[in-house]
Amino acid sequence: MINLKNKIIVVVGGNGLLGKEFVKQIRENEGIAINADINLDSDLDKHIFECDITDENSIRNLIESVVNKFGRIDGWINTAYPRTADWGDRIDNIDFDSFRKNVDMHMNGYFIASKLAIDAMLPNQKGSLINIASIYGVVGPDFTIYEGTKMSNSVTYAAIKGGIVNFTRFLASYYGGNGIRVNTVSPGGIFDNQPEPFLSNYNKKVPLKRMGTPQDIAPGVVYLLSDAANYVTGQNLIIDGGWTCI
Ligand SMILES: NC(=O)c1ccc[n+]([C@@H]2O[C@H](COP(=O)([O-])OP(=O)(O)OC[C@H]3O[C@@H](n4cnc5c(N)ncnc54)[C@H](O)[C@@H]3O)[C@@H](O)[C@H]2O)c1
Repeated sequence: MINLKNKIIVVVGGNGLLGKEFVKQIRENEGIAINADINLDSDLDKHIFECDITDENSIRNLIESVVNKFGRIDGWINTAYPRTADWGDRIDNIDFDSFRKNVDMHMNGYFIASKLAIDAMLPNQKGSLINIASIYGVVGPDFTIYEGTKMSNSVTYAAIKGGIVNFTRFLASYYGGNGIRVNTVSPGGIFDNQPEPFLSNYNKKVPLKRMGTPQDIAPGVVYLLSDAANYVTGQNLIIDGGWTCI
């Protein structure tokens, strides 16, 4: 029932752990996915384009190139994950510069990409934009799951993702009258060969008893891009195996 036939959809960060699966599932559902990432050479014939979400001109260039080649933009996903070298370190080691730089790259990047993408959708009075947030934009971390590892949880991530969840609601409210839907998808932790005992701590705590996979998250993204979600905007679709329900 859910179909993206002929929809032109840009995935910023489409070369990442989640982004690759979003691109794949959009194509499996007959959409035209443009993989836009900082780590690609541009070749729109192959539906790929180099883009830096922290650089307004780079985003403008992407939009202009996509509209010139495909005529319009129907869907847009921000799933890029720019971060500094000290990313994920405990708060004791995070200085003001690091916090500020990450907010600027990640949250401000999602803001400008959202704004410019919506501007490109306005002439058609239709479109769907999705910002990828996180459970850590909704709840605080449980630090016990990191016991026995060198891992921690980023204070900057909490600020960035909480900000993204709520400015997305603002965009939904502001542009609803223009037929543009704006939602967040908030994944729980995605399995990526994390060390023990983190894995067993995480699995013990989450109701569905395992970490998520990109394949768990992408169908929610496809749904929100599709016309099946025509009356869904301003929502935060949390796909987390139940992490945030307890
Ligand atoms: N992996 C997880 O456990 C998890 C959980 C919840 C939410 N998320 C969120 O999902 C999104 C994707 O995460 P991921 O795990 O796929 O990350 P990833 O690091 O695997 O991929 C991120 C992609 O973004 C690209 N990128 C980095 N800087 C960029 C820039 N300046 N401009 C354009 N592209 C840039 C990278 O090249 C990479 O392809 C992020 O918003 C992340 O916060 C991830």
